[in-house]
Amino acid sequence: MSTGGGDAPGLNAVIRAVTLTAAKRGWECYGIRDGYNGILYPERYPEGGVFRLTLDRVRGIAHLGGTMLGTTNKGNPLHFPLPQADGSVRHIDRSDDIIDYFARQGLDALVAVGGDGSLAIAHELHKKGLRVVGVPKTIDNDLDKTFTTFGFDTAVEFATDCIDRLHSTAESHQRVMVVEVMGRYAGWIALHAGIAGGAHAILLPEIPFDLDKVVAKIRHRDLLGRMYSIVVVAEGAAPRDGQRVVLESGNAGHAERLGGIGEQVARALGERTGKDARAVVLGHLLRGGSPTSFDRLASLRFGTAAVRALAEGRSGVMVALGYPDVNCVPLEEVAGRMKSVPLDSDTVQTARDLGICLGD
Ligand code: F6P
Repeated sequence: MSTGGGDAPGLNAVIRAVTLTAAKRGWECYGIRDGYNGILYPERYPEGGVFRLTLDRVRGIAHLGGTMLGTTNKGNPLHFPLPQADGSVRHIDRSDDIIDYFARQGLDALVAVGGDGSLAIAHELHKKGLRVVGVPKTIDNDLDKTFTTFGFDTAVEFATDCIDRLHSTAESHQRVMVVEVMGRYAGWIALHAGIAGGAHAILLPEIPFDLDKVVAKIRHRDLLGRMYSIVVVAEGAAPRDGQRVVLESGNAGHAERLGGIGEQVARALGERTGKDARAVVLGHLLRGGSPTSFDRLASLRFGTAAVRALAEGRSGVMVALGYPDVNCVPLEEVAGRMKSVPLDSDTVQTARDLGICLGD
């Protein structure tokens, strides 16, 4: 089993579920440390980059955040960084090393837990002949063909709680509070937490925003005597006439880092409305803590379903949350695809009907 990409609450529950379900069938289960680094950099792991997951090792972990296997979003075996003598870095495909390792160790199958990047790697390994089942993880909820990914509910729950807390301080000081949330190029966290937390404006990557609309919303509230406003902005949101804010550009093996739009929006709103405006960045707090019961249950259902899928002889699939049951979808329908917020969804319409400004 491997956990890759950014961590998300529920990973440990998946690890426990896979281990228990495999043990019930008399199978042995092994965990790879830090994505695939446990195989690709054996010298870094004197005590073993791959280790046996016994029932003892996975006892009492389902409610814990993070991943006991470790993870990385820099260890893409398809674009493995190879430093050159001249100081440059060449990227090579080391997926065959993983396939060889599985063959040499007599490992029959891989459960790959991850987001779009990790599932794209899993898909490549499957195409090279490895038996693979994927499990959809990400707080961003941007994976297609599954109703939701685990980690998303926990992130939304936490963001909603933060927005709830900001209402009273914003109102006391008659301020504009801008809350920046993660989500990469999708606005799921911003939209769901923004609606649930009673935000007055929500800015999503899916809707390039016009700041005039947000200024008008804040002024209108002031006229009604509601002297404070809460604006939720997704880290990937961008103005109609501008670009998203990139903190660090990406490369073949590592995605770009977003962040900073909250501060920009707060500064501009402060200048344009004459009000005191502050930015709060929730950032990695959204990835920490215990999974909600929804995410815990989803993770346990996904983990057990992944082993059942292998037992049924399936491979090259991802377990997905359907209704009413978990089902399997081909990895090729998921890998490398992104699920944005559909602008005709009832959730977007809910925001509009509640009078929330979406910046358009
Ligand atoms: O994909 C999960 C996520 O938390 C995104 O929301 C965010 O853009 C990114 O990972 C941050 O990655 P890192 O932990 O490398 O800064």
